[in-house]
Amino acid sequence: MKFTTPATTNPIDQLKVIGKPTDRIDGPYKTTGTAPYAYEQHEAAPNPAYGYVIGAAVAKGRIASIDTAAAKRAPGVLAIVTYENAGKIGKGKFNTARLLAGPEVQHYHQAVAVVVAETFEQARAASSLVKVEYVKAKGEYDLKQAKNSAKLPKKEEKPETKTGDFAGAFASAPVKLDATYTTPDQSHAMMEPHASLAVWEGDKLTLWTSNQMIAWSQGDLAKTLGIPKENVRLVSPFIGGGFGGKLFLRSEALMAALGARAAGRPVKIALQRAIMMNNTTHRPATIQRIRIGATREGRITAIAHESTSGDLPGGQPETAVQQTRLLYAGPNRFTQLKLATLDLPEANAMRAPGEAPGMMALEIAIDEMAEKLKMDPVTFRIVNDTTVDPENRARKFSQRRFVECMRQGAERFGWKNRNPEPGKRREGRWLIGMGVASAFRNNMNMKSAARARLEKNGSVTIETDMTDIGTGSYTIIAQTAAEMMGLPIGRVSVLLGDSNFPVSSGSGGQWGGNSSTAGVYAACMKLREMVAARAGLDPATAEFADGAIRLGTRSIPLAQVAQMAPEGVITAEDIMEYGDLEKKTQQSTFGAHFVEVGVDSATGEVRVRRMLAVCAAGRILNPKSARSQVIGAMTMGVGAALMEHLVVDKRIGFFVNHDLAGYEVPVHGDIPHQEVVFLDETDPMSSPMKAKGVGELGICGVAAAVANAIYNATGVRVRDYPITLDKLL
Ligand code: MOS
Repeated sequence: MKFTTPATTNPIDQLKVIGKPTDRIDGPYKTTGTAPYAYEQHEAAPNPAYGYVIGAAVAKGRIASIDTAAAKRAPGVLAIVTYENAGKIGKGKFNTARLLAGPEVQHYHQAVAVVVAETFEQARAASSLVKVEYVKAKGEYDLKQAKNSAKLPKKEEKPETKTGDFAGAFASAPVKLDATYTTPDQSHAMMEPHASLAVWEGDKLTLWTSNQMIAWSQGDLAKTLGIPKENVRLVSPFIGGGFGGKLFLRSEALMAALGARAAGRPVKIALQRAIMMNNTTHRPATIQRIRIGATREGRITAIAHESTSGDLPGGQPETAVQQTRLLYAGPNRFTQLKLATLDLPEANAMRAPGEAPGMMALEIAIDEMAEKLKMDPVTFRIVNDTTVDPENRARKFSQRRFVECMRQGAERFGWKNRNPEPGKRREGRWLIGMGVASAFRNNMNMKSAARARLEKNGSVTIETDMTDIGTGSYTIIAQTAAEMMGLPIGRVSVLLGDSNFPVSSGSGGQWGGNSSTAGVYAACMKLREMVAARAGLDPATAEFADGAIRLGTRSIPLAQVAQMAPEGVITAEDIMEYGDLEKKTQQSTFGAHFVEVGVDSATGEVRVRRMLAVCAAGRILNPKSARSQVIGAMTMGVGAALMEHLVVDKRIGFFVNHDLAGYEVPVHGDIPHQEVVFLDETDPMSSPMKAKGVGELGICGVAAAVANAIYNATGVRVRDYPITLDKLL
């Protein structure tokens, strides 16, 4: 099915199941420990061996020698794989650095070897006997230094944009701001580490793994191993968080495959937490300069946003200027991305890549500008709203209820009680402040396929390689099929995350919810037609309800229709693909974040007191799981504001605080109160589901709202994240 014209009324609009707050159908499995994650696939391999990955001890250079003799003699050791005995190892399309080092080392903790043994403890003990000698090379690890030689990224579609005459308009603007903001390297720090279980049968490999994008990683594993894609099956039914860190094939998958081949046994690996943050990808640090010029009445006349980030050779920039191209009006504009070469671990996507760090900077700048103008920051944002793409005024937004989010948020949060003068509200030793920020994240649609099968008993089974990374995919897919086929949700079974199933959108870039359910919609539309044909009814007028297909006075139970088919089941498969609707209108999601903080006047300790997000993100398929997505994202935004920071050792070239003891993220005690409001809207341009992404919208702007609240509380403007207490004293 191709989506080329705006959605009209369709079966989803019945809203019998869709749009209702629905418990996660996978919830009981997870809370009772019966959801089999990759490391717990005991039936797939009852007697696996264990792999332990050795990470490079230098950031850049060459392996001079590897001595595995002592390790091989250690108890329980079955195999040791390094570049010397691994055979030819390629590089996947989605990887920047190679997943197995040697002889060249590209970054710290890049995998150098895997030790396979009967037990995890034996593998770990033997790994300490492997002796690796390196020849170190000089690397660049300091973004500030590297910025001087940063270049426009070649691979980027739009490295810079220019509209009108920014320089002239900025020079003549009566009120202006020119400030630089920095955001640190950050780690996904998901609960479940990267984990894989590899099982070879002859030349065919099955990999149970924790991965967001099954088809990408199936292709990349085949490419890396140099075997046909058909010989690789990926299975990923449950995933304990990804946040972008599991979009790509990672080293534990390759090392499990190589280890299993060498040992002649199934091998499983949970990448050790201590090497995860340097071995895998991270969100790169940015240096962002923002200039804004406005009239005295507060209309933006000139806006510029330049961002520099770093990555390994062949890598890509953090697209932190994305939102600045679309969020506020103003005729004279300039945005630019620069990419520096760094020899740190690979930079890549982390929840809302681009907008998350971009909004961290832009939304402080907007707060600073409002203050210069002596305007309320909510009003300043509303005054500079735009209904068209400001870089291409012929292009409208498909939906843009940004002003409503701001107004409703201000009302609900009690914004009028905020004292615009900083440092004036006190409760005992606590200085209290309120902050606001816009929320903005683009909406992307990805083609997505599914299979829908009407079973003999009248239930429906959905199969797609879509993943559920903790987001609620199982549930919204079941809701979609239930709505389409006129069944209660309990009569739908959902099977996900298997490369034997039709290729879905996967989970990333907040596209998974709308895109994967749209694929299920397409498959169910086809199934409805097949069922109607089998029942001898007109598919255009037949109704699917209460487990039956009906027309006029005729009603045939779905079970009965299935049994009319020769195999006793009816199977439909389809894909939802997109035409150029996305080009005709700009599809984005909007919101407003409000935060109240207390800052200890003696120690500078910041405590978030309450948070509110108002979101406009198309139809909300499941308000319960959507809320969970948004409060999770808001929590991550607090982490970005106050604590998350991979600290670079600029001499050695690695992240020092590379585990959950040193890399701090918020815990329940840090987040006392969160409220989420969804505006009631549908976007007919997005898909027949009329939904959009929301899971990443929730993080975009939060950190700046916290920063602005801290400023309102204390009068201290911090432009360098995270806002740790030393910066407030
Ligand atoms: Mo997201 S960072 O595209 O998983």
